[in-house]
Amino acid sequence: MDPKQMVHMNQGQEETSYARNHSMQNAAQNRMKPLIEAAIVDVCSNTSTLSCGKVVIMDLGCSSGPNAVALVSITLEATHSHFLQLQQPPPEVCVLLNDLPYNDFNVVVKSLVPLRKMNEPVVVTGVVPGSFYERLFPGGSLHLICSSNILNWLSKAPRDLMMNQIPAYDIDEHVRRERLTVVAGAYARQFRKDFTLFLELRAKELVPKGRMVVSLAGRRSDELINESSHVWGTVAQILAIMASEGAIDKAKFDSFYIPVYGPSLEELREIIQEDGSFSVTEMQAHEPTSGMDYACLTLNMIANSLRAIYEPIIDQHFGSSGEVMDEFVRTAEKYLNLQGGSQVKQTKNPIVMLVVSLTKA
Ligand SMILES: C[S@@+](CC[C@H](N)C(=O)[O-])C[C@H]1O[C@@H](n2cnc3c(N)ncnc32)[C@H](O)[C@@H]1O
Repeated sequence: MDPKQMVHMNQGQEETSYARNHSMQNAAQNRMKPLIEAAIVDVCSNTSTLSCGKVVIMDLGCSSGPNAVALVSITLEATHSHFLQLQQPPPEVCVLLNDLPYNDFNVVVKSLVPLRKMNEPVVVTGVVPGSFYERLFPGGSLHLICSSNILNWLSKAPRDLMMNQIPAYDIDEHVRRERLTVVAGAYARQFRKDFTLFLELRAKELVPKGRMVVSLAGRRSDELINESSHVWGTVAQILAIMASEGAIDKAKFDSFYIPVYGPSLEELREIIQEDGSFSVTEMQAHEPTSGMDYACLTLNMIANSLRAIYEPIIDQHFGSSGEVMDEFVRTAEKYLNLQGGSQVKQTKNPIVMLVVSLTKA
């Protein structure tokens, strides 16, 4: 099956949907707020924007539920307050939301309605189904692109691992350790290729000096790659337990490659500089739990959040049923508990949230 069909989040508004299990990702969105506000001021002060009297803003990989409109709501509020301060009428704004065609756009479209009433004189909204690894917009038509928690998704899992039948996570610990650099290297190369393409495509779509603010999960720059610094590490470890206990097929587990990667801040900087389409305006690394109500973060919430994100891709590979995913949540809770709380609650979590603000060169 086309990988684009599998990477969408759990649809709908039920208990297991992404719409109901999004609070950890929402914390990352909140951390982007000051950088988005600064980018809006920059875009709105640009003479070419002012002379054309309109701003076009796009959020990539919006998913569905409250997070889908969180970033564009920040941009609209920032535009409004900027022009209020200047005592000038705000420009017309066009807000667009993108995700893969299999995303739950029915829910997204409804949540766009209130945005049209948020700003004067005109806010036009729309959805743009398609992969952000392809061109989505005519050249030079966007002023600001933002995205949260999407760039970890690769266009595909590393082909060299699949072709050489090297499991992404070998259940045998010794073999796994020996192959760690091979696996990590294959994922890093795929990320470099995909992220470079992403930068080139977005640079074409932005107006001169257009801005882009993105957030993604990554690993600490000072940390050598290890199995728990892989963004998919927790899911792989949970599935490995299920495979050893016979809850899922071991051979199928060996051929399961999650197309997800988390770079370090330095790795991101290097790719951006090497590509040259953008200059770095600001880069930040945050603890995954900063800005979250720590006391409210339960293991069940984390397990359900993992389910909301990974269920479609797990279902697709293992041909699994709801029972397998219920077992996934139970195993995840036990695993996170054994880890002494959870990976996200550890004092020095190997995973960090990266926020990057860029200006088209
Ligand atoms: C973890 S969700 C993030 C959703 C939202 N931005 C947030 O921060 O809560 C990742 C989203 O990226 C989308 N996605 C993954 N690969 C994509 C691609 N190549 N093109 C467009 N969207 C993609 C998925 O469908 C999913 O909705």
